[in-house]
Amino acid sequence: MSNPIRVAVTGGAGQIAYSLLFRIGNGEVFGPEQPVILQILEIPQAMDALKGVVMELKDSAQPLVKDIITSDDPNVAFKDANWAILVGGKPRGPGMVRADLIAANGPIFVDQGKAINDHAADDVRVVVVANPCNSNCLVAKANAPDVPADRWFAMTRLDENRAKSQLADKAGVDVTEVTNVGIWGNHSATQFPNFEHAKIGGKPAEEVINDREWLEGEFITTVQKRGAAIIQARGKSSAASAANAALDTIRSIITPTPEGDWFSAAIPSDGNPYGIEDGLMYSFPLRSDGNGNVEIVAGLDLTDYAVTKAKATEEELKGEREAITDLL
Ligand code: NAD
Ligand code: LMR
Repeated sequence: MSNPIRVAVTGGAGQIAYSLLFRIGNGEVFGPEQPVILQILEIPQAMDALKGVVMELKDSAQPLVKDIITSDDPNVAFKDANWAILVGGKPRGPGMVRADLIAANGPIFVDQGKAINDHAADDVRVVVVANPCNSNCLVAKANAPDVPADRWFAMTRLDENRAKSQLADKAGVDVTEVTNVGIWGNHSATQFPNFEHAKIGGKPAEEVINDREWLEGEFITTVQKRGAAIIQARGKSSAASAANAALDTIRSIITPTPEGDWFSAAIPSDGNPYGIEDGLMYSFPLRSDGNGNVEIVAGLDLTDYAVTKAKATEEELKGEREAITDLL
């Protein structure tokens, strides 16, 4: 067995962490031979609830979990962390859009960015889940100037998974048949789940589904508004599927991407090949070599329709950035 890696998770007493921590502990992300030390951050008011989560983690007796550190101090929680999964922050309630959370959640990422900068391991990688995740990630990154730009990810994998599932249902196939779905832009209602490159059973999804009206209409809207639909139905925002998507994100970063396919996450837009403005956290189709090198898939043909969609979500991200200039 190798040396343990340190995985910091924030918001440890919350809904998403309640699924995430246990799945990290059972080895399904970093592998059955990779021990982990969990470093869990919470706010002081939630430290008692976190004690209960830790009792349950201990009661799971997971052989790969070598230690569990809890703290309400980011400098402790991020100490020597190889991964930082930033989940802690308010979720939205019914009737809210994710951008409404920026005032409450944005400032959290100033201190956390600084703590990551000063205390995390040299190879730290950061995945931001808390909403609005693109802009929160931008705040954390801006406050961690020593952490290279290619270490920052905001989660749009849940959108990708939702899009694949919708396409699979419509085509009446297994979800594993659906590939090459890229989420462009913001994790919000302006995101563009790009179906124009998607494949079903290796064929263009448009050809298989043969219903462009559905693709441009119900499909996109369902993916864009799925989070709100879950809040409406459950009274709480998505949790198990969000944890699942965070694990998928990490797995995709550390595993070679299957030939010809891609996955989605928001990364720094600087120097991207699609003319999206620099200085944003923008979701693109990505590939990984499995050694930590993640690149935007270049050379995809974008139709005028796709460019309009990609630009609309870019505009929204520019507006969000404008609202947080004091945090950057
Ligand atoms: P939750 O309210 O159940 O848990 C959040 C936890 O974060 C709470 O225990 C809270 O005490 C803690 N917290 C708050 N501020 C903190 C801080 N400064 N440091 C550490 N911990 C802090 O919420 P949840 O359902 O687990 O959702 C967490 C976040 O994830 C929300 O912002 C939600 O909108 C977001 N989310 C994002 C996606 C996505 O696809 N990107 C999906 C689902 C949820
Ligand atoms: C989701 O997409 O389910 C999350 O971002 C939670 C939300 O507020 O929609």
